[in-house]
Amino acid sequence: MCLTYHSDDSSYKIVGRGPIKCTVVLGAVGTFCYVSRVNTTATTPIRARIAAVGAYVPPRRMTNVDLSRIVDTSDEWISSHTGIRNRHIAEDDQAASDLALPASRQALERAGLNPEDIDLILVATSTPDYPGLPSTASVLQHKLEVPAAGAMDVVAACSGFIYALETARTYVVAGAARHVLVVGTEVYSRIVDWTDRSSCVLFGDGAGAVIVSASDNPDDPGEILPAILGSRGAGAEALYRSHGGTRNPYVPGQTRESDLKLKMDGRKVYNFAVAIVGQVISELLDRQGLRFQMLDWVVPHQANIRIIEAVAKRNGWDVERFYRNISEYANTSAASIPIALNEMVEKEILKRGMRILTVGFGAGLSWGGHLISW
Ligand code: ACO
Repeated sequence: MCLTYHSDDSSYKIVGRGPIKCTVVLGAVGTFCYVSRVNTTATTPIRARIAAVGAYVPPRRMTNVDLSRIVDTSDEWISSHTGIRNRHIAEDDQAASDLALPASRQALERAGLNPEDIDLILVATSTPDYPGLPSTASVLQHKLEVPAAGAMDVVAACSGFIYALETARTYVVAGAARHVLVVGTEVYSRIVDWTDRSSCVLFGDGAGAVIVSASDNPDDPGEILPAILGSRGAGAEALYRSHGGTRNPYVPGQTRESDLKLKMDGRKVYNFAVAIVGQVISELLDRQGLRFQMLDWVVPHQANIRIIEAVAKRNGWDVERFYRNISEYANTSAASIPIALNEMVEKEILKRGMRILTVGFGAGLSWGGHLISW
């Protein structure tokens, strides 16, 4: 794309497609005008689309029966109350970035990109390699050998992937990045309290990645539409780790191990989730003047099958349109939506041209969702 001068009407016109970013300073010098730099934006809007997906789930599988040997629970209770039958658990030497790495490589390869094509890496995780610093995104950037790309973590618990995807989308449509790697990666097995049967049965480990790319070609399929994001911090203690941060630092000899682990008021989270998931879906549909039947898929955060079923029932929506894979992976927090997207692409039930809706919710309390034309 370039800027051309037309002597017939003394005008400048933008020719071609794509972003143009410069600064215009017009000034009169005697009888002359000069253009030192040009600042205008593209006439063709840049769209952000998901170019490719990837995922990695550690092979070590823990069934409900395995779990019943550790805590006082049963396959019957877990599957009937949550829909979960298995979860995958990282090896002892695997941290969040180690799960993120193969997922990212797969997404890059499928997008036909090299590491140096990536402008920004966003890692959604609440189980980072290191507490607070450095970011897991920086660790991943080094492992992927992406040269000097921006890298940062996005912390929004189970809504993290939606928040990171929206951050990527806004970078791309603003023209600040062409290709963004967005990863959700979690090792909840390290932060759950394995003596608390009301929470430890719910979670698993895994990673999913997407490449968000700029498109200025109207023929390119796919577009991520602006998200709905929200948070209600008054509910922070419904799902949190009470100690180990700056509020209640770890004090040797005083801090109980269980205080460093995840604590959850399951009923509170359940009630919040059922209400907010329905609300996000309805709002996203209303924004575009769509009806639920016009969606090919809803890809919800996988926390509990009963949450998904209750949302569908309460709103009169067909539950078969909600993709569900919680029985195999349990709740992988920020990784659950990209793992689901990857699985759907591999099963060839998610195809270019389909209209999908993603919706996440979790600690914060936080929530978010996107309408995506795939
Ligand atoms: N095995 C056997 N019994 C159990 C277990 C278990 N694993 N867990 C709880 N129970 C017992 C309880 O002790 C209780 O027994 P009691 O009646 O004798 O006291 C009984 O089962 C019922 O317990 P409830 O907590 O009322 O069970 P409920 O039907 O509400 O299900 C659950 C609990 C599955 C946790 C549900 O509340 C839920 O899914 N909540 C949402 C949790 C969630 O999605 N969290 C993640 C959010 S995303 C993020 O940001 C990480």
